[in-house]
Amino acid sequence: MGCTRGDAGPAVGDLMAHHQFAGHDGGIVIRIEEDSVDVAMASAWIRAVASAVEEHRDQLTQLDAAIGDADHGANMSRGFTAVLAALEDFQAGTVGEVLTKTGSTLMSTVGGASGPLYGAAFRAAGKTLTDATVTPRELVEALHAATAAVTQLGAATLGDKTMLDALAPAVSAFEEALFHGADLASAAADAAKAADEGAHSTIPLQARKGRASYLGPRSIGHQDPGATSTALIFAALAGAVAGR
Ligand SMILES: Nc1ncnc2c1ncn2[C@@H]1O[C@H](COP(=O)(O)OP(=O)(O)OP(=O)(O)O)[C@@H](O)[C@H]1O
Ligand SMILES: [Mg+2]
Repeated sequence: MGCTRGDAGPAVGDLMAHHQFAGHDGGIVIRIEEDSVDVAMASAWIRAVASAVEEHRDQLTQLDAAIGDADHGANMSRGFTAVLAALEDFQAGTVGEVLTKTGSTLMSTVGGASGPLYGAAFRAAGKTLTDATVTPRELVEALHAATAAVTQLGAATLGDKTMLDALAPAVSAFEEALFHGADLASAAADAAKAADEGAHSTIPLQARKGRASYLGPRSIGHQDPGATSTALIFAALAGAVAGR
């Protein structure tokens, strides 16, 4: 391709990842190939969440046993089992429809706090994605909408030891990575890392929302179950966009 790594710095490597072809006037035109998310990728993400929930079901239950009522693993498992069934013969025409279906199913099958919260989050995200293929930037906007829905419904703020402590940093990391020119796969990987760190960051916090808040200072020293399942959701997204 005639490009060599050197004085031009990292931009050369970036451009090499994209196609070059001759323009009308014979000059070289660089076409930036935009990453995108389509219906199949969105479905793969949700199926990956369902697998991760099954794999970590006992861990989620144990975390909730420590500071809640030991049902988070069962709640998430029931919800995503129903989501898998609902998506099976659902012909989604847009990325948003996959997420909206996921949210509606969670809302109708999971009680307690996490069902309505995750339900509202997926529905809010889905509502914004009205095309068959969406850009990473549009995905970030959808994730912002999901965060707003969780905040509106749960009234938690950062540091209250809830799912928001994983969700908000994940969305920020995703957005920042894209801003700095990262592709979809590495932005999603950054988001997954931030969600995981966010989940761990809940350990020393005292819960101020949900059932765990009834424990007061005794909630300190345990990782929040909802923040942990949110980290699973972002790990699944990173896996799905990386094609794993
Ligand atoms: N107001 C809230 N805002 C955001 N997240 C919340 C809120 N309340 C609870 N959560 C999240 O929900 C998780 C608990 O989900 P679970 O499926 O166990 O529902 P639950 O047992 O009904 O919850 P809870 O009894 O704590 O209300 C918590 O770990 C926390 O992350
Ligand atoms: Mg619970």
